[in-house]
Amino acid sequence: ELSKDQMIIDAGQKHFGATVCKSCGMVYSAASPEDETQHAQYHQRFLEGIKYVSWKNEHVAAEFWDGKIVLILQDDPKYAIKKAEAVRELVDNELGFKQVVLRCPTQMYLFVSTEKKIVGCLIAEPVRQAYQVLSEPPAVSGSPTNDSLEPQRAWCCSTKPEKVFCGISRIWVFSLMRRRGIASRLVDVMRRTFLFGSFLNTNEIAFSDPTPDGKLFAARYCQT
Ligand code: ACO
Ligand code: ZN
Repeated sequence: ELSKDQMIIDAGQKHFGATVCKSCGMVYSAASPEDETQHAQYHQRFLEGIKYVSWKNEHVAAEFWDGKIVLILQDDPKYAIKKAEAVRELVDNELGFKQVVLRCPTQMYLFVSTEKKIVGCLIAEPVRQAYQVLSEPPAVSGSPTNDSLEPQRAWCCSTKPEKVFCGISRIWVFSLMRRRGIASRLVDVMRRTFLFGSFLNTNEIAFSDPTPDGKLFAARYCQT
């Protein structure tokens, strides 16, 4: 099973003329005008979407040598909320999720690089129970598993119906920045800040509808 990164690398090597854009990560053929146009559109939308401009009283939840994690809460300025929604749209697009109206209040964590780009995001929501995903759905990366009706939600990362407090409804890292611990740091910070005054255990968090990437990450993260 190939990760998306691997597919991007393979596509770059195998397909004649295929290029990986170093800014937006899109694989396209520079030889095809259609691809070029598609890339130009995606490129602009993506870079606009991940552009980060700080605001007064932003909640910096953690700082690292390569960036910081900013928490967006519902009482943040309109600009921040709009930004959060734009990022969620980008992520949902990449994951193949259709627009789902989230029912519970959610918290969003953004990983902002030192170049002021949003290169990671985690959306957390309160959840009561989670079930481990037992049967593996076909391993199609980004297959749409949610629909606009009441989604049949699968949560993974606990062994039996278990009490959990926090559900990770989305986790995403920019394709060219994966495997640098960005997702791990987002989850670490979420565990520390989601409930006031307590540090969530790995068995108190759950992942919703995980993709193949998401499962590999969750399995690795939760066993530590
Ligand atoms: N394949 C195998 N192992 C993996 C993978 C992978 N694709 N991704 C993470 N891991 C494991 C590794 O053991 C890794 O440690 P290592 O690099 O030292 O070997 C460990 O998890 C920690 O990985 P991070 O670097 O913290 O994870 P990353 O920042 O790369 O982000 C993520 C992981 C978010 C799943 C990323 O691959 C991604 O954005 N994928 C596309 C979007 C997606 O599918 N998101 C999950 C949807 S499910 C949901 O939202 C609930
Ligand atoms: Zn590009």
